[in-house]
Amino acid sequence: MRVLGIETSCDETGVAIYDTERGLIADALHSQMTMHAEFGGVVPELASRDHTRKLLPLIRQVLDDAGLRGNQLDAIAYTAGPGLVGALMVGASTSHGLARAWGIPVLGVHHMEGHLLAPMLEDTPPDFPFVALLVSGGHTQLVEVHGLGRYRLLGESVDDAAGEAFDKAAKMLDLPYPGGPQVAKLAEHGDPARFRFPRPMTDRPGLDFSFSGLKTHTLTTARKLQEAGPLSDQDRADIARAFEEAVIDTLVIKCRRALDDTGLKRLVVAGGVSANHRLRERLDHAITKRHAQAFYPRGRFCTDNGAMIAYVGAQRLLAGESDDAAMQATPRWPLATLTPPAA
Ligand code: KG4
Ligand code: ZN
Repeated sequence: MRVLGIETSCDETGVAIYDTERGLIADALHSQMTMHAEFGGVVPELASRDHTRKLLPLIRQVLDDAGLRGNQLDAIAYTAGPGLVGALMVGASTSHGLARAWGIPVLGVHHMEGHLLAPMLEDTPPDFPFVALLVSGGHTQLVEVHGLGRYRLLGESVDDAAGEAFDKAAKMLDLPYPGGPQVAKLAEHGDPARFRFPRPMTDRPGLDFSFSGLKTHTLTTARKLQEAGPLSDQDRADIARAFEEAVIDTLVIKCRRALDDTGLKRLVVAGGVSANHRLRERLDHAITKRHAQAFYPRGRFCTDNGAMIAYVGAQRLLAGESDDAAMQATPRWPLATLTPPAA
């Protein structure tokens, strides 16, 4: 079965073709990052317009790369939520239009289920069950995963997502959007011993997160230094390092706790922040001591992409899920409400 995957939930137009026998056979991505950077964050209306401009050319490109015509596909899967409603509508309406024209089924899939299963596209995918840490710009969640659509939420952020905290810290340090990779780069030159930022909610039981206090702490640290004059490059790097250490430590502590609580030995880490190298190093170190193993998507599948959407669509259709009669664009959609594929 060959499935075209379409991702337009935020600021990346992603298109891919997943073949259930051969794996991923084409994959293309257009990032709107530079367009939004000027405004310091995603501008929803600009995002929708850009998806409209880029989606059909990208679909043409992946079909050419795979040497296929549209009517040789077996299905289309698109991101139906969560995300920006206008951006989602572009993917949903294009998918329904093309599926109608090509006479094939179309299925709306959950964006975070895409992230969650992105490591399945790698050479050594994890077996079920596992614990998943989903860390993106909009979500920070720990989920117990027993199979496709069998998700139990263990904990989540009560305020900002980890990626969002990275983006806000970046702004305070005059770094461009999106801030995660920029903060990580600046932190490389930072002295980890100069400042120690709090590790929120780690001193009490439970698996929830909170990152908004860390943001305030970053701001007050920067302001205090600014009283003596403008921040030096070293000051900025030291703050970035302290911030990154605090986020990573917090995520590592909660992952360890989630593995202990569930008794599971596999950890999947996915979503934009899972691209962070220091996070990967520290998680690997922490969990090998527990004889557990971590699984990550390759770098470009950590952030938004069409491949993970094509993969989820293919798995759900293979398991007997029927296509959607109605077009779906759901901005808020909790992952834990998903169910196994229903024929
Ligand atoms: O999954 P994603 O592409 O979009 C959402 O679904 O939200 O995640 C984007 C987020 C942004 O907040 C970005 O700053 C963060 O992931 N990010 C990183 C890194 N690369 C991307 N955060 C920390 N370190 C990185 N290397
Ligand atoms: Zn995402």
